[in-house]
Amino acid sequence: MHSPDIDIDSVSLRFAPTGEAARSHLALADVGFRVKPGEFVALIGPSGCGKSTLLRIVAGLLGPTSGTVQIGGKTVDGVPEGIGFLFQSDALLPWKTAQENVVLGALLAGRSRTEATERASFLLAEVGLGKATEKFPSELSGGMRKRVALARTMAYEPRIFLLDEPFSALDAQTRIHVGNRFLQILETLGQTVIVVTHDIDEAIAMADRVLVMTASPGRIAKEFIIDLPRPRDYYGSRFTPGFRDMQQGIWDILKREMDGVLGG
Ligand SMILES: Nc1ncnc2c1ncn2[C@@H]1O[C@H](COP(=O)(O)OP(=O)(O)OP(=O)(O)O)[C@@H](O)[C@H]1O
Ligand SMILES: [Mg+2]
Repeated sequence: MHSPDIDIDSVSLRFAPTGEAARSHLALADVGFRVKPGEFVALIGPSGCGKSTLLRIVAGLLGPTSGTVQIGGKTVDGVPEGIGFLFQSDALLPWKTAQENVVLGALLAGRSRTEATERASFLLAEVGLGKATEKFPSELSGGMRKRVALARTMAYEPRIFLLDEPFSALDAQTRIHVGNRFLQILETLGQTVIVVTHDIDEAIAMADRVLVMTASPGRIAKEFIIDLPRPRDYYGSRFTPGFRDMQQGIWDILKREMDGVLGG
């Protein structure tokens, strides 16, 4: 499927005062960047800087206070078709098995029941859950649920992936396995991707470009072009020349922003 570009132009978002918060809260201030068709962008920034909020705006789940988002030249106003969104919390249907949750993604993509079942089995095996297909979400660990959710998002065959910390609940070894499978699939399909992560190494290993955000209100502090060759290895990339310098560069900016929040 054709992968469109994403154009985020001067997006600001102010949350209105709520019961708990007496004042309005400026979550995003003048955020702007473009994601080229098929490009993989990683967003990294201090907790609370507005990363999830920004993804929700791109997905049309939340309207910006000012600024616009365009996908494939069309202004986002409501949820556009073909967006694969992986929420920070896994959001599986509790009354459906792992297999049925993933089948649903494929059915939404217009696949027949037979194709959807095959695809679900394939993707669950890819994320290391071939033996857990008949389990319900309540019978799975946090990391397993997250992998089911990732498989479901992939089953939907979206034009654009918006992934909010897709591997955050996974232990280090599973993360490498799933990260590699995910990279292989994406490098074959070439979809447009924005992924939010807290892991600098992961951001560099996967993305074409890493955008570091400032502490709240979030804006883009700096962009890093990651010109490592593809196909990449989720873990092995860390040992390629130049990796440490990029890691250091990103950490310098991130540390500065985090010191402002946590106290340096
Ligand atoms: N629905 C809401 N109403 C009011 N304030 C909100 C709402 N959602 C988020 N916020 C606030 O907006 C800011 C940004 O939140 P967001 O969830 O986007 O941060 P984040 O960068 O994704 O953080 P984390 O890395 O911890 O997931 C926070 O201060 C948060 O409290
Ligand atoms: Mg978040």
